[in-house]
Amino acid sequence: MEPLGLRAVGSHCSLSEMDDLDLTRALDKPRLKIERKRSFDERSMSELSTGYSRHDGMHDSPRGRSVLDTPLSYARNSFEPHPMMAEAWEALRRSMVFFRGHPVGTLAAVDNTTDEVLNYDQVFVRDFVPSALAFLMNGESDIVKHFLLKTLQLQGSEKRVDRFKLGEGVMPASFKVRHDPIREKDHLVADFGETAIGRVAPVDSGFWWIILLRAYTKSTGDLTLSETPECQKGMKLILSLCLAEGFDTFPTLLCADGCSMIDRRMGVYGYPIEIQALFYMALRCALSMLKPDGDGREVIERITKRLHALSFHMRNYFWLDYQQLNDIYRYKTEEYSHTAVNKFNVMPDSIPEWVFDFMPLRGGYFVGNVGPAHMDFRWFALGNCVSILSSLATPDQSMAIMDLLEHRWDELVGEMPLKICYPCLEGHEWRIVTGCDPKNTRWSYHNGGSWPVLLWQLTAACIKTGRPQIARRAIDLIESRLHRDCWPEYYDGKLGRYVGKQARKYQTWSIAGYLVAKMLLEDPSHIGMISLEEDKLMKPVIKRSASWPQL
Ligand code: GLC
Repeated sequence: MEPLGLRAVGSHCSLSEMDDLDLTRALDKPRLKIERKRSFDERSMSELSTGYSRHDGMHDSPRGRSVLDTPLSYARNSFEPHPMMAEAWEALRRSMVFFRGHPVGTLAAVDNTTDEVLNYDQVFVRDFVPSALAFLMNGESDIVKHFLLKTLQLQGSEKRVDRFKLGEGVMPASFKVRHDPIREKDHLVADFGETAIGRVAPVDSGFWWIILLRAYTKSTGDLTLSETPECQKGMKLILSLCLAEGFDTFPTLLCADGCSMIDRRMGVYGYPIEIQALFYMALRCALSMLKPDGDGREVIERITKRLHALSFHMRNYFWLDYQQLNDIYRYKTEEYSHTAVNKFNVMPDSIPEWVFDFMPLRGGYFVGNVGPAHMDFRWFALGNCVSILSSLATPDQSMAIMDLLEHRWDELVGEMPLKICYPCLEGHEWRIVTGCDPKNTRWSYHNGGSWPVLLWQLTAACIKTGRPQIARRAIDLIESRLHRDCWPEYYDGKLGRYVGKQARKYQTWSIAGYLVAKMLLEDPSHIGMISLEEDKLMKPVIKRSASWPQL
C-alpha cells in the first residue's frame, strides 16, 4: 500500500556514479536523520555542490531515485511524514492533464470554489516545473517526458500577434488540451503570449524547458531524450533567440515587462534578475546536453563565451552588499571613458531610503535590475535562489544571500514564505510603475506578496549552501497554514498573514512546491537535478575595473 500516494521505488535502484556522489560521501550511512541534519549544517558548499560542465557527469551512468541505497519506505519510516504530504500528493494527482491517454502536465489550479477560471485551467510551463520535480523525485518520469515532447512540438507551431510573427524558438507560456467530441480526438492549443494579459511572450518558458530537460536526464539517466535531433534542435532554437548579435552592449538579456513569473507590469523590464539567472542556468544546462556535432560546436562556443561575459557582469554589477552600497552612495556621475567607476551613470540620489536600513553588515543580494542610469534595488526571491542553484553566485555570494535572508527574516519571510520581491511599491510609484494595477496593490500578488511556491527554491538554495535549518523554519510556517487555507496561490500583507485578495485555492505549484521542499530535505541528493556546481574555469573576477578594454 502507498499511503502517501507515492509510487514504490525499489531499493535496487542503481547508485549513480555521477557527480552527486560527492554528496553520498558527505552523508553518513545508515540514514540517521539527526546525524545527517547536523552534518549538512556544517557541510561546505563545495562538498554539497553538484554537477556541471560539458562533462558534468550527465553521460556517466543512469541515476536511480536516490544515490543512497535506501528504499523509499525505509526513508519514510525513519520519521513521521507530515499528514499534509498525503493530501498534497492527492491534490497534485487531481491536477494531472492527459493527452490521448498520456499524462502531459498539471493544471495551474483546481479551484472549485470559484467560477472565475481565467487561464488557470491550462498547463503553464513555469508552473509545471515543481510538479515535474516532485514526479521525478518520486520516480515517475513519464509525465515529464511527455510534457517535454508536447511542448517541443508546440514550439514548432506558427506564432503571431496580429500581423507580427514571433521567433521560431519561443516556447509557450501555457497550453490546453481540447477534446473534439465529434472526431473523438484531443488536440493542444497553446498560448505564446498572443492571448496573455499584456501580450508578452514568456521569456522564462524556454529556459525552464531546458532546465527541466536536464533535470529529467539527470534524474532518470535516460540520455536518449536529450540526444534526439528534435531536442537538440529545440534547445538551439531557444538559445538562438538569446545569443543573436545585435545592438547589445551588455551580456544580459533585454526583456519586456511581464515576461516571466511576474507576468504583469511591475517595472521589471530591461535586465531583470529573474531572467538573467534563468538565462545563465539554461545556458549551463544546455552546455551539458548539446552534442558537439554539426552546428552544435558553434553553439557550444557561443554559449561558453556568453557564460563568461554574463557571470562577470552579474557578479560585479548586480551584486549589492554593504560595501558596494557605500561605494554607490559615494559615486561620482557623468564620468566618461574607460576609466569610469560608475559605468552605468547611476545617480546616488536614486538609491531608495529603505535599502540603507535593509542592508546588514553581513550579507548581500543580486539587485533586481541594472541598466543605463538605472538600478532597481528591490530584492527578488526567484532570481536570488536561481543564482545560487546555477552557481551564478560565487560561493561567498551564495552564503551572503543566505545571511541576508536570515537577517531580514521578518521582512522576506514573515509568517509565510516567501516574498516574491521586497519591498512593495506604493502610492505615486505604484501608479506610475504598475499603471495602477488593482491586483498588484501594495504587499499583494506580484507587488510584495508571499508565494508558497517559492518554498522549493528556497529549500534547494538552503541545501546547496549547507543551511537546511533555514528551510526547516520556512517549512514549519507553511505546515501551520497552507493546508488549512486550501493551498492558496499567494498571501498578502507585510508579514504575508492574509490569504491573497484574488488568490486561487488549490494552486498546483503551491502544492508541488511543498512536496519538492519536503522531498529535498528528506533526501538532499535530489538537489543534483536542479543545481549546478561552481564552474572552476569561471573564476570570480576581483578587480571591478577590469571589465573594459585597457587602452
Ligand atoms: C499568474 C502568475 C504566473 C503563473 C500563472 C498561472 O499569472 O503571475 O506566474 O504562471 O498565474 O499560475
